[in-house]
Amino acid sequence: MTDLPEVLDEAFWNDRYRSSHRLWSGNPNINLVSEVSDLIPGTALDVGCGEGADAIWLARHGWTVHGIDLSSVAIERAAEHATQAGADIAGRVTWEAADLLAWDPGATRYDLVTAQYVHLPSGQRDVLYARLAELVAPGGTLLIVGHHPSDLENGVPRPPRPELFFVPEDVVALLDPTEWSIDTAASPARTATHGDHEMTIHDSVVRARRLGDD
Ligand SMILES: C[S@@+](CC[C@H](N)C(=O)[O-])C[C@H]1O[C@@H](n2cnc3c(N)ncnc32)[C@H](O)[C@@H]1O
Repeated sequence: MTDLPEVLDEAFWNDRYRSSHRLWSGNPNINLVSEVSDLIPGTALDVGCGEGADAIWLARHGWTVHGIDLSSVAIERAAEHATQAGADIAGRVTWEAADLLAWDPGATRYDLVTAQYVHLPSGQRDVLYARLAELVAPGGTLLIVGHHPSDLENGVPRPPRPELFFVPEDVVALLDPTEWSIDTAASPARTATHGDHEMTIHDSVVRARRLGDD
């Protein structure tokens, strides 16, 4: 999609999900799989979990997951997909329709906090990612993935809103180097199909470990 309203609120996302019975592929995100496969499973928070593919993949690989999304339509769908994946998977994931910017986690902290392609304007994005960092337990991992702004220059069909996209350094700059060690700050290329066209796109990927107990 190339046209976006100014504010990407719950109504926008609910309409977007209602426009198709399945908006995303149902496959886990490639950078989630590559960055998480070497971690020891524990508790995970998937923020902006959409239709649930990443959370379900994590549950399949031994994680106990809480999936949160602004869209109640997406959350209902994610829960259905987990049920279809079987009782063992469904029993490892809880779901919640909530705005992460207003969400109160209480004292809970997670071994993994992941946000995949949650694109917000830079002011809100910094607030969101700083909050996600706070939710990581000592020794735990923060994984942030989004579209790289170079996609706009390379003709990839993205909304013409550069402020929604970020480079890895933008995320790294939010993390106090005395508290975090950066495992990955990269812009890997991958091939994606848009309509009949194959194109090379770039993601921004940051994986950081909170220093402290392991
Ligand atoms: C591009 S989709 C990505 C979905 C999923 N992570 C994936 O990769 O398939 C972005 C998701 O972030 C959710 N989202 C946007 N702002 C949010 C917020 N403030 N709190 C929670 N979820 C949010 C949207 O509802 C949407 O499902």
